[in-house]
Amino acid sequence: MGRLIIISNRLPFSIDHEGDQLTLRQSSGGLVSAIKSYFESDSSKNRGFTEKFWLGVADFPQNEWSVVKEKLSGRDIQIIPLFLNKLLYKDYYNGFSNSVLWPLFHYFPNLVESNVHYFEAYVKVNRAFADKLIPLLQPDDTIWIHDYQLLLLPEMIRAEKPAATIGFFLHIPFPSYELFRTLPAEWKTSLLRGVLGSDLIGFHTHDYAQHFLQSAKMILGVDSSFHSMQYQDRLIKADLFPISIDYKKFNKACNDPETKQHYKDIRKNFEGKKIIFSVDRLDYTKGLMDRLNAYDHFLEQYPEWREKVVFILNIVPSRDDIQAYTERKQQIEQKTGTINGKISTITWQPIIYRYTHLPFNELAALYKAADVALITPLRDGMNLVAKEYVASCSGRKGVLILSELAGAANELNEALLVNPTDTIEVASAINRALTMPEEEQEHRMFLMQQRLSDYDVIKWVSDFLDQLANVKQEQLKQQ
Ligand code: UDP
Ligand code: G6P
Repeated sequence: MGRLIIISNRLPFSIDHEGDQLTLRQSSGGLVSAIKSYFESDSSKNRGFTEKFWLGVADFPQNEWSVVKEKLSGRDIQIIPLFLNKLLYKDYYNGFSNSVLWPLFHYFPNLVESNVHYFEAYVKVNRAFADKLIPLLQPDDTIWIHDYQLLLLPEMIRAEKPAATIGFFLHIPFPSYELFRTLPAEWKTSLLRGVLGSDLIGFHTHDYAQHFLQSAKMILGVDSSFHSMQYQDRLIKADLFPISIDYKKFNKACNDPETKQHYKDIRKNFEGKKIIFSVDRLDYTKGLMDRLNAYDHFLEQYPEWREKVVFILNIVPSRDDIQAYTERKQQIEQKTGTINGKISTITWQPIIYRYTHLPFNELAALYKAADVALITPLRDGMNLVAKEYVASCSGRKGVLILSELAGAANELNEALLVNPTDTIEVASAINRALTMPEEEQEHRMFLMQQRLSDYDVIKWVSDFLDQLANVKQEQLKQQ
């Protein structure tokens, strides 16, 4: 077994500065959560890779690398930081990645800001990744590239290392061909050719894989059969691998004394009240405004719940240099203020709003304490928060309200599935969740928990890497 090289834009840790002190915290988002929890599990040690690396963009200046490196020492995985020019990074990250690909792939075409400089920067940064990686490569390395920021990288590596083993996983939806085709011709062909440099391309759902295959057919004329393609005389597979969580970690989190204490504090603080909880990065795809409107409507329609329910809304800072994100923050804070101002009493506030990163113990305690998780993205590749909530519900009580437009809805059918923009439907689902008999809650939770414990993040990684190895073997047979 050779070495495993994970590549993503985001490294697993981010830096916080407090005065002269520099601390590391886990980066936000599902990609990092999933890969990091795999590496922290025992199974990652058993797979037999001789060494493991994670290459990503450094969000700290080069002169801090020695301090950061020291803080990372002793970890099983070695970090390879890529230092980039700030302006170039801005056009690649804020620009092409998050103002073109992110909105388009999440069905927000009106938020797309097409700019030729953004694409040029995207090409350059993908090139910088390739230039950093290629000199380090050894013949039996397994390269696993993650997400929409690096769609061009597989082809760039393939051009110089034709025999390389390259897997690619897309953590966000792949949009329908009708939407993807709206990109300028040069961009859409480059993006597809870029990914097709991989041996295996993974998606969360069947629909995303089909959308990709249809785009490859319509735009590049690449035919597929049973998820296999023959491209430039090479067999490639595009298949579905629904990402998951470290089920045991969340299920057992409340055995930890610090988490127990947080849990006790929360329950005591809201004694006699039902808790509705949600946690999301600040992102327009998460449907936060619609969610607040629905909660507002719920309090109007079901006044019997006033003073008996509290909505803990935790928003995690994200991409705050982009206007579409900062605007949303203002709107959310205004709406939260309006609802609280309208119906709070001296002893009760309907929404507890926080804008912060949550440490794991606190997050786990909130999941466990929540009677209802209200997760209503307008689009979401998967949504790991929904899975984490289900895994954390000890005693199997609790109700998940989940948007039917999240990838996770395909697996969590026992949730109360809702259309996130339908205020009346979401408000009525909240009432249904709060009044659901305990046996029904337990039954629904039991089925979802079984499914998640059977297919956890360890299985997800193993499935992907096994399939990647199979594709390489099949390619050899074809030669
Ligand atoms: N999360 C985090 N920081 C926090 C709160 C939550 O990193 O302060 C984690 C959360 O546990 C989950 C991930 O962020 O694993 C969010 O993943 P999801 O798939 O729900 O959405 P994404 O942010 O990737 O769009
Ligand atoms: C989503 C994306 C990831 C990204 C994460 C956090 O999960 O799929 O690629 O890392 O959001 O966003 P950020 O821009 O902070 O990396």
